[in-house]
Amino acid sequence: KPRVLSGIQPTADSFHLGNYLGALRNWVALQDDYDAFYFIPDLHAITAPHDPAALRQRTLLSVAQLLALGIDPQRATLFVQSHVPEHAQLAWVLTCLTGFGEATRMTQFKDKTARQGNDSAGVGLLTYPMLQAADILLYDTQLVPVGEDQRQHLELTRDLAQRFNTRFGPTLTVPDAHIVTGTAKIYDLQQPTAKMSKSAATEAGLINLLDDPARSAKKVRSAVTDTEREVRYDPEQKPGVSNLLVIQSALTDVAIGDLEREYAGKGYGDLKAGVADALSEFLAPLQLKVAQYMDDREELDRILAAGAERARSIASATLAQVYDRVGFLAPA
Ligand code: TYM
Repeated sequence: KPRVLSGIQPTADSFHLGNYLGALRNWVALQDDYDAFYFIPDLHAITAPHDPAALRQRTLLSVAQLLALGIDPQRATLFVQSHVPEHAQLAWVLTCLTGFGEATRMTQFKDKTARQGNDSAGVGLLTYPMLQAADILLYDTQLVPVGEDQRQHLELTRDLAQRFNTRFGPTLTVPDAHIVTGTAKIYDLQQPTAKMSKSAATEAGLINLLDDPARSAKKVRSAVTDTEREVRYDPEQKPGVSNLLVIQSALTDVAIGDLEREYAGKGYGDLKAGVADALSEFLAPLQLKVAQYMDDREELDRILAAGAERARSIASATLAQVYDRVGFLAPA
């Protein structure tokens, strides 16, 4: 089977709807036909200031959410990045192949340093994409399911793999991004031209998978729309309404055109009620399952131990080959 790999950061207590519709839904779909590797990049999570106890709890909550969403540890390899030391080891080699200018030109680095200022932003933000490239290249990954915001990191990963292969001989598999059009970008409900994000300006635009469904329904009812009345998909002229249509369509598997027909002659209140209903039908059973997984810590530990073992068996072979190719002396 061809291999897919992807990761999601444990930087909040809950994943949000953008994570789910833009990426995680696809992770679940791909695990049948691919040899799937899914992991929690906790090394990436410390590139921003963090609280250690919160990170540990969020790592567990992340695993519980992935399981509740349908990632099956029998079919997919589910692990925590820091359990596989080869990630940091390969990242160093790739860092040494990356140009300083190339790294400072990455959009995420520029955005984050602009927000925090050069002195409080750590060097980890600069080397973040090389660690992500290592995540992918350790496993001979063919396909990386991600949302639109990760496209540039994938491009760098491809460049680094090709550069390594040119300089040291064919070693690393060059991966493809797998970005699902339609839900590749879910927008903030209050600011429907900005992506939904944990670091959004206001909480009101963010739907968290673990929030009380009533609270999420309220956020949907206060979503920004426009001064027209017609429920119509038009991302340029009507970004708020279009975002709501995308969300309802993705949650219910009803095509956007069919939803438009359903809402013909009705107003934004009806659209919001429809989205809120679809959301609570999705969130309520999900939250029950997350709670069950969180109650069984031993089971979570077992799953992660098995995942790390499988991941290491592949990662260590790739790293050994890389170390050999760059000329490191094998330990006697
Ligand atoms: P992260 O944790 O920010 O996001 C996880 C996934 O969710 C997608 N996503 C969205 N999709 C649509 N609309 C949105 N508003 C939205 N917000 C987030 C992201 O595109 C992503 O697919 N650097 C990565 C984590 C990572 C990784 C990797 C991913 C580390 N190593 C190796 C793939 C392969 C990140 O911060 O994603």
